[in-house]
Order: sequence, then C-alpha cells, then structure tokens
Amino acid sequence: MLNRRNLLALGGVVGGAMLIPTAGAIRAAGTTEADVAPAGGAHVHPKGPRAPSNVVAPAVTPFSVRMPVPPVLQPAASRFGTDFYRMNIQPADVEILPGLSTPAYTYNGQFVGPTIKARTGRRVRVTYVNGLDRPANVHLHGAHVAASSDGHPMDVIAPGAERVYDYPNSQQGATLWYHDHSHHTEAEHVYHGLHGFYLIEDDAERYLRLPDRGYDVPIMLRDSKFDEHGTLVFAGDPALRNTILANGKPQPYFPVAARKYRFRFLNGANKRIFQLSLAGAQLTQIASDGGLLAAPLPLTELMLGSAERADVIVDFSRYPVGTQLVLTDALAGPVLRFDVVRQAYDDSLVPSRLRAVPALPPATAERHLELRFDFSGAFPMGLINGLPYDASRNDFRIRRGTTEIWNITNADPPPTSHPFHMHLVQFRVLSRNGGPPRPGENGRKDTVLVAPGETVRVQATFDGYLGKYAYHCHFLEHSAMGMMGQMEIVR
Ligand code: C2O
Ligand code: CU
Ligand code: CU
Repeated sequence: MLNRRNLLALGGVVGGAMLIPTAGAIRAAGTTEADVAPAGGAHVHPKGPRAPSNVVAPAVTPFSVRMPVPPVLQPAASRFGTDFYRMNIQPADVEILPGLSTPAYTYNGQFVGPTIKARTGRRVRVTYVNGLDRPANVHLHGAHVAASSDGHPMDVIAPGAERVYDYPNSQQGATLWYHDHSHHTEAEHVYHGLHGFYLIEDDAERYLRLPDRGYDVPIMLRDSKFDEHGTLVFAGDPALRNTILANGKPQPYFPVAARKYRFRFLNGANKRIFQLSLAGAQLTQIASDGGLLAAPLPLTELMLGSAERADVIVDFSRYPVGTQLVLTDALAGPVLRFDVVRQAYDDSLVPSRLRAVPALPPATAERHLELRFDFSGAFPMGLINGLPYDASRNDFRIRRGTTEIWNITNADPPPTSHPFHMHLVQFRVLSRNGGPPRPGENGRKDTVLVAPGETVRVQATFDGYLGKYAYHCHFLEHSAMGMMGQMEIVR
C-alpha cells in the first residue's frame, strides 16, 4: 500500500543514486505500513555485476523442498575450557529456489550460517575471516559480552582481515543468533545471508529432559524477494519480499516423528512481523529471547517481531502417521509443513515449572526513549529522542552494575511498529501501555515489539562490562536509517 506522505517527502530525490523510495506494507498487528528503504539501498551485488532484473521469480510449489537444519559447526580446537572456531564471511552461490543459483553473502558458504553450540560457563572464541570486498562484522544477538566482542557498528573487519570474537557464555541457556552489524550496511548484509544460530545450553536445562538432539530444531524464518534468475532483490519495498524462507528454503516441508519436538523459532527477517499458527494445534512456548520462561505457556498463535525468538514445544503424538500440519502466517500464508512420517519413542518432558525468572534489583534511573520517523528532510530518517544514530555521541551514560527502567515509546502513526532491541542485556518487560506485557513476554527478553502509539516499559541491569553498546529498532531498514542509539557503560 502506498503511503503518499512518504512518497511526497521523497519526491525531490526520486531517482537519486542514494535513495530508493518505496512503499512498504509490512503488517504490524494486522495492519499494513508504508515505508522506505534506507539510503544506500541501491546496492552493488555481492558477486559483481549481476544486478537483479525487474522480473520476479516464478512462485515455487509450496512444500516441494525439504527444510534443512543448519549444520552444527565443529570447533577447530578445544583447550583450557575454550572452544575455538573459524568462520569465513564469504560470497557464495547458494540454491534457495529449486534449480536457481543465488549469489549471497554467507558464513562458510551457507545461507543460514552454521550453528554454534555453546555451553554456559565454557568460553567460545570465533575467528571470523572477512572474504568479502567490503567491511563486515559480527554481532552475537542476545549475548552478554565485552564491548570489543559485541560487533559495534563502527568496529568492522576490513576486507581480507580477520578478527577474534570472545564469548564467555556467562548466561543461561538461550537461543541466540549472530549476524552482521556493519554501520549502514547491516540491513543489506543480513538480507543477503549473514545470519546464523548460536545456541547456549546449560546443565540445569538438560535435567529438565526437554526434547533434545534431533528433536530440538532451530528454525529461522525470514522473507525475501528474487528475480527470475534467483538473484535476491534488496532495494525497494520490503513488503514485496513475499517469498518466505524457513532455514533458507521456500515454504519447505519437514518430516517429523509422532512425538514432542522443541522448535527454536527465530524471526530473521529484516522487517516483518510473523503471526504463526499451526492448524489450530497447541504450541507450548517454553523460552523467549534470553532463555526458559518460568512456566510453559500454551498458545495457538505466536507473534514474533524481527529478531525475536521463541522456543516452542509441539507434540505430534496426537496425530496419526500421515498427518500434515501447515504452519501459517496470518499475512504471508503457508510457511512450512510438518509431515508426521513415523512413530518414535519419547521420554522427553515438559515440566510445569521451567526456571525462576527473578525480579531485577530496584531501578536507580528511569529513561524515556521516543522512536519516530522524520520525513521532513531530503530523505527519511529514523530518530530516537529526536536524533539519528551518531557513533561519536553517547546518548546515555550508565553506571556499571546499576538497574534502570526504560520507557520506549513508538511515536509513529499506525501501522509502523518498532521492535526495540538492546545490546548487552536481557531485560524484563514490565508493562505495555500501562497494562501487563503479552503472554510470553514475562521472561528474559532482548527485543520487544512496540506498536504504534505504545509505550513499553522495560527493566535491565547493566552489569559485567564497560564500553559502548548499541540499542536500536531491529527492523534493520529502520536502524540503517538512523533509528539507533548508543549507551556507554561507565565505572
Ligand atoms: Cu540483532 Cu544490534 O542486533
Ligand atoms: Cu543485538
Ligand atoms: Cu522501527
């Protein structure tokens, strides 16, 4: 749907090399939204001259390809309580649409990067080698890490260089993910494939006997748009990215046994809200961004803004072999089909209590953040408290170890939502417009959807590290347009 105001605001610069005016229509809680791609949206293709054409790829027959599970990366070495990994950030041609080759930016040649499995209390060091012709970096989303390993937007790996990131894994088990965070190019890089899972497991969680091994499956959902040759189309309206991928395949099927599974859903889309249901089946949410909830939460619909995660138990034992259940998004339609293909023994449990989510210490400071777009200038800008991101500016100085309450207001009109994300911490959602948080938001969170007009109140303790960290809207087209701020944790 066209937003005339946006287009009018862009009238003077339409056709300029730096700007691609678009009219987005990403649903926010059942509505549509008009939006624009960030400046710089006219991008150079990762592998050179192959620019996308204007012809959209033919639709793929739903459920014709199998959903892969991203392979787990093996450490190159393990010693002194540390696992050492190497990962190449490299261009690669990948097959996403059947029979077509898609030039992508990848980790180790895989469109959904290899999964790193870490353990609480055991250190991980990853050496990333940047084989791209442009700066890149890596942010471990949801992790509690030193600023030097956080993938600050300005802290990039030059082409040809390598860089070690150090992850102490001093937090509890959680479904994290890693992705590019290079300033102003994060949206384009992540869209082209710089994303992967990083799972932290802990002993206490293991004792719960939740479904594990082959029955614990990470699923990254995202959207994309392809031309008829299979080239990813980044520029233009994010709402036209209507090919939905699950673990990098379009509307795949996934064979399952008639037993319980743990699915770790990640919304890896730059700019989309998923609202998922599974043919009326009960979904039992057991974890949010930062790990286990206090207790399992039965749901029939799961809402995930960009970058949010939810671990969900699905019990297929109620369905006879031969049953097919389609995971459907309220806007995009069919996403993924689960095919019950065999019986299986199941000794997994979903205990009625999972893990305490203790209250944080009392807050000693309260802040207010107002997120909104400014369409008055030559090109639209994303603002927090009236300012676009400036890495040389510290918006907040926060004393290490203190607890704060942040009131995050989305001052944009419907239907523009902003999924707000803070680095370094897992916060608690205290309230939403003065009312209770949504079910599933009462655990540890690092990203929270803020609907138009809403104020979401969160509480966080900024402990452990000093230095500069980002917070931002995780619609990456929005953060790339400036909707990002910087906090400095000080002594
Ligand atoms: Cu998912 Cu600033 O990151
Ligand atoms: Cu992050
Ligand atoms: Cu936003």
